[in-house]
Amino acid sequence: MALNEEALMWVEKYRPQNLSEVVGLRDIVESLQSFLKKPGEMPHLLFAGNPGTGKTTMSLCIARQLYGQNWRTFTLELNASDERKIETVRNKIKTFARINYTGYGDVPFALVILDEADQITSAAQMALRRIMETSSQNCRFILICNQSSKIIEPIQSRCAIFRFSKLDKKAVIQHLKSIAVKEKLDITDSAAEIIVDYSEGDLRHAINALQTASVYRKGVIDEKTVLRVIGEAAPKQVQVMVNKALNGDFIEARDMMYELIGSYGFSGPEIIRQILRELLKLSYLSPEEKAELTNLVGEYDFRLTQGANSDIQLSALLAQFSKFQKSKGENN
Ligand SMILES: Nc1ncnc2c1ncn2[C@@H]1O[C@H](COP(=O)(O)OP(=O)(O)O)[C@@H](O)[C@H]1O
Ligand SMILES: [Mg+2]
Repeated sequence: MALNEEALMWVEKYRPQNLSEVVGLRDIVESLQSFLKKPGEMPHLLFAGNPGTGKTTMSLCIARQLYGQNWRTFTLELNASDERKIETVRNKIKTFARINYTGYGDVPFALVILDEADQITSAAQMALRRIMETSSQNCRFILICNQSSKIIEPIQSRCAIFRFSKLDKKAVIQHLKSIAVKEKLDITDSAAEIIVDYSEGDLRHAINALQTASVYRKGVIDEKTVLRVIGEAAPKQVQVMVNKALNGDFIEARDMMYELIGSYGFSGPEIIRQILRELLKLSYLSPEEKAELTNLVGEYDFRLTQGANSDIQLSALLAQFSKFQKSKGENN
């Protein structure tokens, strides 16, 4: 990404530079801070967990806090998914380890940050493990992955493992609001909440949604702006609508659908996509019932792609839903 483009992206602009600025994950932050007090004793680290929770951010914070302004000199950043061959990784690390042999100040090692480590095959991970062993005198590794189970055991056992869980909702809301203040934007509580619900603990996602919403609308960011931006009908509203229909409450379900199209301006296919999502979440339906209803949704989706009128088709779909539940009831 070009430098000026990067500056425009709020995810980069507001990426914490120091561990103390990280949102949530207090336990992890505290452990890492204590490693930094005695860098000589810092083990290899394995960061595992959901996207957008700060794994890359915290790795870079560590690099900055260890080496100050010179951090780039002493840090090798590799992305395993770009480095198809472990041989390339090995060579880069070897060269790097040699150059930085003496370390920096009271930090007796250079740092290798290997992102997407779970993309490396098991065989290549064995090679990586040997690299870690032979270079452990003067290199520390931070391995980043989504699933730690995809990292071979011998590597796991050489690392202190940190699991990044989804970020706490309140903390994310607070963070979004603080960004809004800095950007001189007003955001309503419900709008912030929708963004956070939608991004499911992924802060990258949440910040991007906020930035997009700010482009749509200068001034107050409200529920409607946000819903338009994330291209979703209000998830709760769709959920209620689906439940009403399945309970045989066709008229109310249809009115809610009219509102989604009329007031919020969602398209038929957008609503269909969300109905499907909500449907699959319903715990009171058996897998067979879900399959049956999914087929039904597919049929109406097809009609929409053929240019049929959205209101009419969605009404018909909801009517089918309300009958579906009834026929089940009668059979029982
Ligand atoms: N815990 C966090 N605290 C503050 N900002 C965060 C946090 N997690 C993610 N972010 C924001 O989201 C962006 C992406 O985070 P990143 O560390 O790259 O996520 P990951 O590597 O876990 O996918 C960062 O630039 C930052 O703006
Ligand atoms: Mg990352």
